[in-house]
Amino acid sequence: MEQDLQVSILKELMRQWDEGKNIDAGVQYRMPTSAYVCPDIAAKEWDIMFQNHPQLIGLSGDLPGPGTFITLDDFGTPVLATRDRDGQFHAFLNACRHRGVRVSQEERGRKNVFTCPFHAWSYSNAGDLVAIPDEDHFGAIDKSCNGLIELPAVERDGLLWMHPQPDGELNVDELLGPLAEELASFGLGDLVHAGAKTITMNLNWKLANDTFGETYHFGKLHRNTLGKIYPGNNLHLKEFGRNHRFVTASPAIEKFKELPEEQWDIKVGAAFILYYLFPNITLIVGNGSCTLVKMFPEEGNPGRSTSQIFAYYSQEVIDQAEAAKADGSLGEISKDSVYQEGGRGIKTLEATMEVFSSTIEQEDYLMGELQQKSAGNGLLTHVIFGRNEPPLHHFHKTFREVLGLSPLEEIKQ
Ligand code: FES
Ligand SMILES: [Fe+2]
Repeated sequence: MEQDLQVSILKELMRQWDEGKNIDAGVQYRMPTSAYVCPDIAAKEWDIMFQNHPQLIGLSGDLPGPGTFITLDDFGTPVLATRDRDGQFHAFLNACRHRGVRVSQEERGRKNVFTCPFHAWSYSNAGDLVAIPDEDHFGAIDKSCNGLIELPAVERDGLLWMHPQPDGELNVDELLGPLAEELASFGLGDLVHAGAKTITMNLNWKLANDTFGETYHFGKLHRNTLGKIYPGNNLHLKEFGRNHRFVTASPAIEKFKELPEEQWDIKVGAAFILYYLFPNITLIVGNGSCTLVKMFPEEGNPGRSTSQIFAYYSQEVIDQAEAAKADGSLGEISKDSVYQEGGRGIKTLEATMEVFSSTIEQEDYLMGELQQKSAGNGLLTHVIFGRNEPPLHHFHKTFREVLGLSPLEEIKQ
């Protein structure tokens, strides 16, 4: 990120910090709770935003070298994503051309040839059909036109994008606009996949996403955990079409007051630099680290969703953590100890991941399940988004616009 931009964001956060003020959108909205429970809305969003919209499926580090692969089954299309022997990223429908069985059942690994478990047809990691057992019994098949069905796939600046439809349009420049260059500056392509966690709970996927839509709750809901390190109630937000950037301050911001502006570093002064990428991606970038959260509805069930959290680190950060582990200086690590030490207790990468995901699961998403219940009851017809919650305004306005729903209703004072 450009230094001038880092300084201007940090200055705004310092102002809020010093004045005890949060971001102020100058407007409040009411939103119908039907967005979280209506089966028609759920069916429409599944169709428009998941089955027929480009998807960010991971970082380059998920396919760390030729012959690596991942499989996913998140948006109604079983996908096999590979890096072929030339290093090229591909996405295929994970379905054998004989009678449709998944050619790979494993989540991730390294393979040059995928052999279907049913009758053992084999495919290369570039998607070519390379072998049919007992071909003289089966009859002739033109292998050259019976490879795995290829889906549009683009690897750009460390991000892996694909479209779930073979003829779908995948234009990353258009999807990211001016954010493309900014995201490229974080060197995401150099990061290594270090762990993943999946959380499935009884809340609409948009309630999961709403978790990342304000900092108002940090010192309340998270008062004994995250709020001890990052008090919240401050935010810098910038919208980029359907996407946005969300930055909230860390107490470390104080020390920049004594330093010349060219030494200000947003990765130190910010608690989170978070990008929301339409429709369902949260990308949190840090110092040699990135956390990717993908949120998916359960098809046909607006009251249930799955969030997948992936952690990535630079090799340098991984080596440092391994060295700390090896020298035996680490004490007991638990969620409580981490937060009691003001964040300094986060000494292993596993603990960092665990703390992040368990806070989401046991605090944020627990609220989401309660919200889901009250929305489902039908008596609570609307929720209110405050002046200090503009990321929620942006996300829900965008969502409603894309689905052709009525706009959010402004509350007149
Ligand atoms: S279904 Fe794959 S080989 Fe028959
Ligand atoms: Fe939270």
